[in-house]
Amino acid sequence: MKKFFAIFNWKMNPSSLEEAIFLASKNDIKSKNVEIVICPPFVFLPEIKKIVKNIKIGAQNCFFENEGSFTGEISPLMLKKLKVDYVILGHSERRIYFGEDNEIIFKKIKAAEANKLQPVLCIGETKEQKEKKLTFKILKKQLQPILKTKKRPIIIAYEPVWAIGGKEAENPKKIYEVKKFIYDFILKYGKIESNQIKILYGGTVNKENIKLIIEKGKVDGVLVGRASLSPEESLKIIKTLSQLNVGTR
Ligand code: PGA
Repeated sequence: MKKFFAIFNWKMNPSSLEEAIFLASKNDIKSKNVEIVICPPFVFLPEIKKIVKNIKIGAQNCFFENEGSFTGEISPLMLKKLKVDYVILGHSERRIYFGEDNEIIFKKIKAAEANKLQPVLCIGETKEQKEKKLTFKILKKQLQPILKTKKRPIIIAYEPVWAIGGKEAENPKKIYEVKKFIYDFILKYGKIESNQIKILYGGTVNKENIKLIIEKGKVDGVLVGRASLSPEESLKIIKTLSQLNVGTR
């Protein structure tokens, strides 16, 4: 049976531990064919790790050193010791607001891998790059850091920057075209078995569009921002994924 990923990126939400625990417990359900991963802000991770039983926990970022004088940073070793499973790296908000480039992201991937965390590498083009037909060129560059990793599977979240926090997701047919490109590129240059490549889509995924995104975009799952903050939406997304039985290549 195919297993889909539902990765919920809460970003800098909610503002209290009580709300975070409420949200986490709502999503803490057993699913045979959905890998449910919630990614709360760092400050809530220890408490949430204690209460959830059925789902995985991810961080939204980490630094590339294990310890030292790096004010304000959180290390992959700390996450490992908390038994965090996943770490989102290279999210466009990190690239835009915190100046992270592919070189920094490469170091973070290596550090995460060394600590046995599963990286989820986010890549995607801006609106301007899309209009100039530069999407594939940009993605090739953003994929470089992952080609050298030995961690399996390789998980990529294709998130067009303009679709994040937007009104509409990318068209599922276009998602498929890009997904195919990413898949072929990693297969060609990554020295990897095809079933170890997992490609997700992110950018305005919600309970209404999830079915088409999976069926027509043929992705292995989704990375969800805003909709993951509503238990009603996130549960509907999980439910839809658990009822789908489609091949994704
Ligand atoms: P969104 O965010 O679902 O709110 O568009 C997605 C993301 O940034 O991962």
